[in-house]
Amino acid sequence: MVGGGPIQLGTLRVRRLGFGTMQLTGRGVWGPPGDRDEAITVLRRSVDLGVNLLDTADSYGPNVAEALIREALSPYPEGLVIATKAGFTRSGPGRWEECGRPDYLRAQCEGSLHRLGVDQIDLFQLHRIDPHVDADEQFGVLRELRDEGKVREVGLSQVSVAQIEAANRIVPLVSVQNLYNIAQRDSDDVVDFCEQNAIGFIPWNPLGSGKLSTAGGPIEEMASSLHATVPQISLAWLLRRSPIMVPIPGTSSVEHLEENCAASGISLSDAAYDELTASRKAIRRWAMSG
Ligand SMILES: NC(=O)c1ccc[n+]([C@@H]2O[C@H](COP(=O)([O-])OP(=O)(O)OC[C@H]3O[C@@H](n4cnc5c(N)ncnc54)[C@H](OP(=O)(O)O)[C@@H]3O)[C@@H](O)[C@H]2O)c1
Repeated sequence: MVGGGPIQLGTLRVRRLGFGTMQLTGRGVWGPPGDRDEAITVLRRSVDLGVNLLDTADSYGPNVAEALIREALSPYPEGLVIATKAGFTRSGPGRWEECGRPDYLRAQCEGSLHRLGVDQIDLFQLHRIDPHVDADEQFGVLRELRDEGKVREVGLSQVSVAQIEAANRIVPLVSVQNLYNIAQRDSDDVVDFCEQNAIGFIPWNPLGSGKLSTAGGPIEEMASSLHATVPQISLAWLLRRSPIMVPIPGTSSVEHLEENCAASGISLSDAAYDELTASRKAIRRWAMSG
């Protein structure tokens, strides 16, 4: 079961280990999953295990991950929070193009409402701020969608502290989703800012896109001594890093999902946390070399 105290993302109450659905699509985040039955089982099992935050996006597939969520879980259990995103167009496997035109964001919001089969999106995240469109216009349409009741809460993805402050002047933000894990900590300042301002921080690639889940590196010894696995220690470090941290590890496998969810029951001692934090450079070298 997913343990640990829940936290608030604005009006949304979420347990601190969520599930990212990007790995449920085809290669290059394009098309249907390789194993559709397993994808459906993973989604249902995540909820059975106590996960109540699912991260998705219109662009995963595109449109595939949202449709799978609906197929697997609708009618949705009470308290399930679905966080989707808009702000990319897709033109093929592995290809992502920013598009923050207000009319496009609005159309994608309508599409997500339809695909998910809901009247209101729990958490709507701007996938990227499009540098070719006035940022305030992008934040403004998020505000409008929130005021119209089409989305309940708003978040941003891959942003700086200055961008969070600018957006927050237009629409209240409840979450920020940036690349962050024990080896990639460029967003340390954003994590600290979110903690000081009661904004949830949702690290993407919490397992370094899988690199922080393989045996044989500097995390292994600590993992063995705590009767845990390398991905579990990678996630436990994130959970310990800040009380506003909500990792969303992605997997297409029930076995990996169960392993990852169990990480919420591991509490690192001060000494173990400090040792891992101090080993950051070695962990980064190992993770980047694999
Ligand atoms: N906002 C953004 O721009 C952005 C960008 C990327 C991702 N995201 C979101 O963040 C979520 C997490 O990121 P991610 O999925 O890219 O990367 P991740 O969670 O760091 O790692 C996923 C990879 O790790 C493997 N894995 C997971 N658990 C494992 C385990 N216990 N043992 C061994 N391997 C394991 C998965 O393979 P298997 O399938 O074989 O388990 C997959 O290859 C995504 O699903 C998505 O929702 C957001």
